[in-house]
Amino acid sequence: MSRRARGLAGLALLLGCGAAFAAAAAEGMPVPDRLAREQGLLVRPVTGAAEDFSRHCQGCHGHHGVSVDEVPSLKDRIGRFVHVPEGRAYLARVPGVAFAHLSDERLAGVLNWALRTYSASELPAGFVPYGAQEVGSLRRDPVNDVGRERAAVVDALVAAGIVADRAALAFGTDRRY
Ligand code: HEC
Repeated sequence: MSRRARGLAGLALLLGCGAAFAAAAAEGMPVPDRLAREQGLLVRPVTGAAEDFSRHCQGCHGHHGVSVDEVPSLKDRIGRFVHVPEGRAYLARVPGVAFAHLSDERLAGVLNWALRTYSASELPAGFVPYGAQEVGSLRRDPVNDVGRERAAVVDALVAAGIVADRAALAFGTDRRY
């Protein structure tokens, strides 16, 4: 085979793989992970804020926004926090958010994505999405004493009638991961 013909054959092989890869990506792809392989799990690639969530948040909060007892659910809940200013601030100041390795812009994006994906029904009417500047200044003043500051936010939500009582937003804090 001439050099050129060999080169073309190589190119065709690559293109062939590319088409197969794209088709597999739409259906879900196997991943090089032992548990996933044993259970026949396939993954569907995600991009943008959904990818940022899966890389930076999902390990603790779960794909569906629900996880172990000691990590609070995002699902059907976090939209309530943005009804009061201190709650809106808290979501960007909580350590897992404030210290994420993401730019202010991408962090605002992932927070807005999580609110709309997991808790759209709880959002206030006319919810204004977080902006990069807002998130930037909030995360520079991260929550120090989560127990105390979260309790104050929850009390403000109870006082404003957004949730009935503290129990509505409770989660098990006694064991960490
Ligand atoms: C290492 C585990 C971990 C990671 C990673 C993490 N979180 Fe969290 N998150 C928690 C825990 C635990 C809390 C409860 C507050 C605390 O103890 O820090 C929390 C609280 C929250 C809250 C407030 C909910 C409430 O009820 O108090 C939001 C919103 C949130 N996280 C979103 C995110 C987002 C978005 C990311 C990714 C950018 C993220 N978290 C990454 C563990 C994590």
